[in-house]
Amino acid sequence: MVKQEAKKRLDKLKGLINKYRHSRLVLDKTIADEQVEDSLKKELFDIEQEFPDLVTSDSPSQRVGGEPLREFKKVKHPERMLSFNDVFNNKDITDWENRLKRIDPRATEGGFYCELKLDGLAIELIYENGVLKTGATRGNGTVGEDVTHNLKTIEAIPLSLPVTSPDAFGSGSRQNRRDYQLPVTLVVRGEVFINKKDFEKINKSQDKANNKIYANPRNLAAGSIRQLDPKLTAERHLDSFAYSLLTDLGQTKHEDEHEILKKIGFRTNTHNKFCKNLEEVQKFRDYWEKHREKLPYEIDGVVVIVNDNRIFKKLGIVGKAPRGAVAYKFSPRRSTTTIKDIIIGVGRTGTLTPVAVLEPVEIGGTMVSRATLHNEDEIKRLGIKIGDTVVVERAGDVIPDIKQVLTELRTGKEKSFHFPTKCPSCNEPVKRLEGEVAYKCVNKNCPAIKREGMYHFISRSAMDMDGIGPKIIDQLMDSGLIKDSADLYGLTKEDLLNLERFAEKSADNAISAIQSKKTVSLDRFIYALGIPHVGSETAVDLARKFGTLEKLSKTDKEELEAIKDIGATVAESIYDWFNNGYNQNLIKKLNSAGIKILKQESSQKSSKLKGMTFVFTGTLETIAREQGEEMVREHGGDTSSSVSKETSYVVAGENAGSKLDKANKLGVKIIDEKEFLKIVS
Ligand code: IVH
Repeated sequence: MVKQEAKKRLDKLKGLINKYRHSRLVLDKTIADEQVEDSLKKELFDIEQEFPDLVTSDSPSQRVGGEPLREFKKVKHPERMLSFNDVFNNKDITDWENRLKRIDPRATEGGFYCELKLDGLAIELIYENGVLKTGATRGNGTVGEDVTHNLKTIEAIPLSLPVTSPDAFGSGSRQNRRDYQLPVTLVVRGEVFINKKDFEKINKSQDKANNKIYANPRNLAAGSIRQLDPKLTAERHLDSFAYSLLTDLGQTKHEDEHEILKKIGFRTNTHNKFCKNLEEVQKFRDYWEKHREKLPYEIDGVVVIVNDNRIFKKLGIVGKAPRGAVAYKFSPRRSTTTIKDIIIGVGRTGTLTPVAVLEPVEIGGTMVSRATLHNEDEIKRLGIKIGDTVVVERAGDVIPDIKQVLTELRTGKEKSFHFPTKCPSCNEPVKRLEGEVAYKCVNKNCPAIKREGMYHFISRSAMDMDGIGPKIIDQLMDSGLIKDSADLYGLTKEDLLNLERFAEKSADNAISAIQSKKTVSLDRFIYALGIPHVGSETAVDLARKFGTLEKLSKTDKEELEAIKDIGATVAESIYDWFNNGYNQNLIKKLNSAGIKILKQESSQKSSKLKGMTFVFTGTLETIAREQGEEMVREHGGDTSSSVSKETSYVVAGENAGSKLDKANKLGVKIIDEKEFLKIVS
């Protein structure tokens, strides 16, 4: 290749690699496979190797930096980099607004811009003629450290802006260029942070190598930026959002800055939102306090900014913080309390779960009095004793967890806990199965297992007896009115009226909840039986394969194992369940009670989702996940529990976690519950 050709090819390659990067990180849309991107980068590197003088400072190859530095140069910020004062509750933020109004009665009339407050470090980026020249840390606010070589490794930070390469971002860019005639010098600020997953991964390997453990994502991000070898930074996969534009490109509101930043190629946070008053601000903050778990990165509050830039400026600075903005922090998710007792719960499948009874404590806005201890190994690992002071964490809506024992606070009166050798409910010996961490009660007649089984039977995804809950089941079982699920169908209104808390209306409701759900689809019925290892997806597979309960109950292990997604353990569990005398009797009883099981085919309503695969993650608001999956199947679609390139849609509810990350990574379309219901309606 001659040099001229090489230059042309390099320009094209740079443009395309940049377009893919921009689309993936700024527009949140993956348009090319990772391997395609890698392959183009390799070609670019190879050509640059051959023609070293064609390497430009904005080439994608410059992201995996050059030689380590000896020391950081100092950079004086064109404007001081400030921090924010914190507010913690509604009173604080109302007080803040009132203070602003005393300075200017109309100060907040233009509303607020609310941003997620990332747990990272602030950076400043200076572009000259569209090319990234300097990237600096905050330092003391006036003078920072030049970390350009490290920041350049972060893909989310553009090395050049479209002004130098009009076609770089596809057809829209020329328009953007006209919109924003980029000045010679452009100053942008933002945050560098690390994803939670990477944070954990790095800490794990640090631990293994006996290296320093980072206390939080911010420390790790800062440590990765404030070191001299860019190769180390590159390994840490840092990410970045831009959030403020210092150069005048016509913005009059803070919101405009975000819009412009995105248009000229910066990655901005799409969750940020304009709020017209404090009521909306409060809602935004509360929403994110509850939903922060579903974000791939850590946030510790929201930044609330007076949206009108002229007023923001007029409000001035007090100390190190602008008057016109505050950090509205979330309540701490961790707290300390003492363990009053450890009790053992027995689950539907007989698993014994230790639960810590806590001295009630408020965490993240709710009172917490129980925390799961998972299993015996976890108790040993933490070294927990009854009476200990512990650190409790509550993440989102999940059950609180114990993170650490503060052994320094022991008095000597703490009591060791010994895992029971007998089931606390039926007193039969418990077993620890080969290869499993949990102890199980294997007594088929254990009252606790039966009770849990009943809760499962009536639940929304099983028989869906709306109007009957665990409390009523407890009452019915304790009074001896029912011993198993079949007994439910023989209950009369009079039976219920004899119980405490039941009146005419509630008794009627309960009876009709039971009777109206006598007709049920086969897969729901199979699921409701509560066969260990048979979740709603497996129940559907079984219903489709066998068509009737009769056939399923007579099958053998080999036939079961031949079904896709069913392995030896599940096959054995199903086989054992149907060959147990107690269960066989229960099915007979349910039949005579008048349960009508529909044939499987009848549930198909259309085939509009044929060939599509849906993955559900997180908790949905109006329907149970199993109901959603059923809806998909009713329209001929398929469901899966894991995300892959074949997944058509990921339906994300509250607290969605790793599946969401994976979908993002693979570029799988993510929809929320509302959009999903629209598709299936
Ligand atoms: S600033 C005019 N936005 O918070 C204000 N700062 O305590 C423009 N921070 O050192 C928006 N996330 O590093 C802004 N979304 C965000 C932020 C953010 C985190 C940090 C920033 C600063 C610190 C102040």
